[in-house]
Amino acid sequence: MIKVLFVCLGNICRSPMAEYIFKDMVDKKGLSKEFYIESKATSSENTYTPTDIYPPAKDILIKNNIHFDKHVARKMNKDDYEKFDYIIGMDDSNIKNIIRIVGNDYNNKIYKLLDFTNDKRDVLDPWYYGNFDKTFEDIKIGCEAFLKYLNM
Ligand code: 4NP
Repeated sequence: MIKVLFVCLGNICRSPMAEYIFKDMVDKKGLSKEFYIESKATSSENTYTPTDIYPPAKDILIKNNIHFDKHVARKMNKDDYEKFDYIIGMDDSNIKNIIRIVGNDYNNKIYKLLDFTNDKRDVLDPWYYGNFDKTFEDIKIGCEAFLKYLNM
C-alpha cells in the first residue's frame, strides 16, 4: 500500500482538495485498495478549534462531483515522516515548513505536487488569489502526473 500525505499551510483549502481529488481519481481507476491517503497542515492556525474544509473549496469539490467526508484540519508532526511514503506539499513555502517539522528528508519522501509535471510551479493558493477553479485544475493536473510517476 502506498501512503500519501498531502500538505498545505492550513489544511482547509489546497491539501483537503488534493486528498479528495486524488481519492476520487484512484477510486475511478479501481486503485483505492492500493493507497492510504490523508491531508494535514504545517500550521496550527486552524487546529485550535475543529475546522472543516473552507466553504468555497467545498463548493468547487461539489461542482466537480468529488466526494468528501467530514473534515477536521490537523497539523502534521515528525512521526508522519515514518508513517507516509510520499509527503506532498503545494508550494515552496509548504516544503520549507514540512522540512522544518520533520527535520530532514533522508528518505526522499517530500515533493511539491506540480514537480510531477513539466510545469514545476506552485499550486495557486486560493486563500490569496480567490480562484478556486484554477487551484482545482492545478491539483487535478498534479495528481494525474503523480499517478503517472507511480506508473499507475
Ligand atoms: P490552505 O489555505 O493552506 O490551502 O488550507 C490557507 C488557509 C488558511 C490560511 C492560509 C492559507 N491562513 O492564513 O489562515
